[in-house]
Amino acid sequence: MKALILAGGYGTRLRPLTCSRPKQLLPLANSTLIGYILEQLGTAGIDEIILATGHGNDYLQNVLGDGANYGITLHFSVESHPLGTAGAIKQAEPYLEKETPFFVLNGDIVSDIPYSHLLQYHHQHKATATIALYRVEDPSRFGVVDITSDGHIHHFIEKPSPGQAPSNLINAGCYVLNHAVLEHIPANQPASIEYDVFPNLCQSATVCGWEHHGFWIDTGTPESFLEAHHALRSELHKTPHIGEDTKIAPSAKIEPAVTIGNRVIIGPNSRISRAIIFEDAIIGEGVIVDQSIIGHGAIIGKDLRLEEYTIVGDGAILDAGAIIPSGALICPEYHLEKDKKPPHCFVKDLKSS
Ligand code: GTP
Repeated sequence: MKALILAGGYGTRLRPLTCSRPKQLLPLANSTLIGYILEQLGTAGIDEIILATGHGNDYLQNVLGDGANYGITLHFSVESHPLGTAGAIKQAEPYLEKETPFFVLNGDIVSDIPYSHLLQYHHQHKATATIALYRVEDPSRFGVVDITSDGHIHHFIEKPSPGQAPSNLINAGCYVLNHAVLEHIPANQPASIEYDVFPNLCQSATVCGWEHHGFWIDTGTPESFLEAHHALRSELHKTPHIGEDTKIAPSAKIEPAVTIGNRVIIGPNSRISRAIIFEDAIIGEGVIVDQSIIGHGAIIGKDLRLEEYTIVGDGAILDAGAIIPSGALICPEYHLEKDKKPPHCFVKDLKSS
């Protein structure tokens, strides 16, 4: 059984973290987002995986190699320009077998979807496509389905206007597809599975929905990326995660829902809560970090307050006395001086390199 992971998006909502690495290489649960997904697939016995990449491909290939570290075989299907979530599947056709259905996963979902149950359901319903579904309170920023009691999807509506959603069941970004679905995707041109394929496929083929009741988080925004870290930690541990060779001053206060990478330095009287601090960052004396993310090797000056989804890019330097509004986004390598505010710019990112 093969799985195709979509990993070629720009990850704009997680900028500036994704300015210097693809979203899938962001740290998660002692690994990376993609490492977590690959380990889960390997555990489920899905050992041949196609990574559909483009943007950030070199970074991914360097880190993942041939997949041997994860006990899987990894192929890279590389787009020269983004083909969208359906175009990427079409381009990977040479890796897919005619007779066997395959899994497709968004490369930014953290879940415990039991893949074997989803596949069994797909076969039982003789479906052409089966979409894993997840129930949420506000479905408006997702693909929403209109589904019958026997599991057939009649309508698939991507990001419905408020009040227009036919249900609270959303596309969980994990599908089983028959090879026949590829006939519904144009070759060599951008196409979206959510906008161009599923809405039409529901009218012409058997598209089924299978509701997942377990753990599921779309990590695509700073809020949900923090939520994923906290959920994965608090499930197993009631203490913060502290990386190796990290030095924390005895007077610093670190709350349980915190992830701190390797070789980080945390100064005296600092307070870190609901935060992620990547490897090699230096947090000065008296700094407050709450609900915020600090990139690799960033340096945070004395007494600064970083709150409400402030994100500091890799290698940025924030001098003591700099003005940091709540929710500030600071570019990688940017040097913010005393009395200065961060500008709003994302000039230096993978897209333009
Ligand atoms: P945003 O820019 O923040 O919306 O993030 P994104 O670019 O990752 O888009 P989105 O979250 O909608 O994408 C869902 C999944 O599809 C992610 O794993 C993306 O990497 C992937 N993806 C999106 N567009 C493409 C594409 O053109 N090609 C490939 N191969 N994957 C894509």
